[in-house]
Amino acid sequence: MSFFKSLSFRLLILTVFFVMVAEVLIYSPSIGRFRLVYLEQKLANAQLAVLSIRTQPDAVIDNALSDELLDHVGAYRVVVARKGERMHILARADRPKIDAEFNLANHRFFPLIIEAFSAISQTGNRVIKVTGPSPKAPDVEVTVEIDEAPMRAEMFDYSWRILALSLGISFFTAALVFLSLRWILVTPMARITRSMVAFRENPEDRSSDLFDDGRADEIGVTLRELSSMKSGLRSALREQTRLAALGTAVSKINHDLRNMLSTATLISDRLAMSSDPNVQKAAPPLIRSIDRAVNLCSQTLNFSQGTPPLDLESVPLVEVLGDMKDGFEASSLTPLSVTYDENDTTVLCADRDQIFRVFANLMGNASSAGASEVTVRARSDAHRVTIELADNGPGIPEEAHARLFLPFRFTTKKDGSGLGLAISRDIAQAHGGDLSLGRTGPEGTVFVLVVPAA
Ligand SMILES: Nc1ncnc2c1ncn2[C@@H]1O[C@H](COP(=O)(O)OP(=O)(O)O)[C@@H](O)[C@H]1O
Ligand SMILES: [Mg+2]
Repeated sequence: MSFFKSLSFRLLILTVFFVMVAEVLIYSPSIGRFRLVYLEQKLANAQLAVLSIRTQPDAVIDNALSDELLDHVGAYRVVVARKGERMHILARADRPKIDAEFNLANHRFFPLIIEAFSAISQTGNRVIKVTGPSPKAPDVEVTVEIDEAPMRAEMFDYSWRILALSLGISFFTAALVFLSLRWILVTPMARITRSMVAFRENPEDRSSDLFDDGRADEIGVTLRELSSMKSGLRSALREQTRLAALGTAVSKINHDLRNMLSTATLISDRLAMSSDPNVQKAAPPLIRSIDRAVNLCSQTLNFSQGTPPLDLESVPLVEVLGDMKDGFEASSLTPLSVTYDENDTTVLCADRDQIFRVFANLMGNASSAGASEVTVRARSDAHRVTIELADNGPGIPEEAHARLFLPFRFTTKKDGSGLGLAISRDIAQAHGGDLSLGRTGPEGTVFVLVVPAA
């Protein structure tokens, strides 16, 4: 990552910027103050100059002395008045006209700042008349007429000094912020990132693991969370590898087993045709158990392969239910009557074969649990169809509910796999829907199937 895009560089710039902003905020009142002090100094000097002529015995002074005193103050004219006393005036013969007047009595904060900025932004010299109480004796009022340019020059000087100082402080502060951030935040973050990258590249490599060094801050929390996440992921990965190996083994066994079973089926079919009555009696159960074995094999295979890619189309619900009704009601073993609204217009957006499997499994379960009747109700909104399949079977025991949809975990049939509901739910979820247990009890069981509407 380039330095200029790093967090620390951005913070460096921000710090410099913020310190400068702070300095501007400080600068404004101080330049106002600077001008005030400058002008007050002028008034004090002026008063001093006038005091010196009062000591003259006859108070009559010649022009040469007057001009010298005015030069000393840097003013064109000085007036000093004390309440109830005579006025003292020093003035040059050729005075320029006044450009602006200011009164320093009762000065206020913001006007001072504004006047200072206006003074600094002048392009040429102004002759200004400044009146104010003497800084030494408040009952004395002093007025001076002076050039503004020298003051402006000093104000510039002062501003440059402040600017240089501000820049110095900014960079110093920024450097401190930068270093402490690097130390507190960026370096640990970089370590965490490196460790994460190393983990992604090779999860089993523990050499890049970070250890909790007992930090109590957010970094410490991140470190701890990261290492517990890593160990969780590692064990999940190991589990997955094991399961994948197991899955491959199972499907291989299944495959071979199915071949063997189909040979067995062929032979048992021939057995059934035997003329020996004993053999004839033994054949049907043998065929049934071979059928069950084949069934178990293909279900396990199906499950281990996951849901195949869906081939979505519009499937009218009544079509599916019609087929189910025909199949289940014709079943010679345990006929199951299927009731539904034949005028229902619901259309599903589904893979026809897959959704058939779901219904066949749900109704097959009901039938083998001992139900004689299944009632199907559907209601749909703009996007989804919610289908309730209610049977009148014996219900599902409470303790089985948590395991019901987990593969291989719950079955009450002696030849059951416990896969049917897991596969059905997988299929429903692959469609973007879901399958859940609605309610169950002695009066029957309701499964709720949600499928996207066409
Ligand atoms: N409608 C139902 N009524 C009563 N029990 C049910 C019903 N549906 C499922 N079950 C119970 O849930 C178990 C698991 O069903 P399923 O996952 O399809 O696997 P399998 O059909 O192979 O047993 C069944 O063995 C049965 O005990
Ligand atoms: Mg089943």
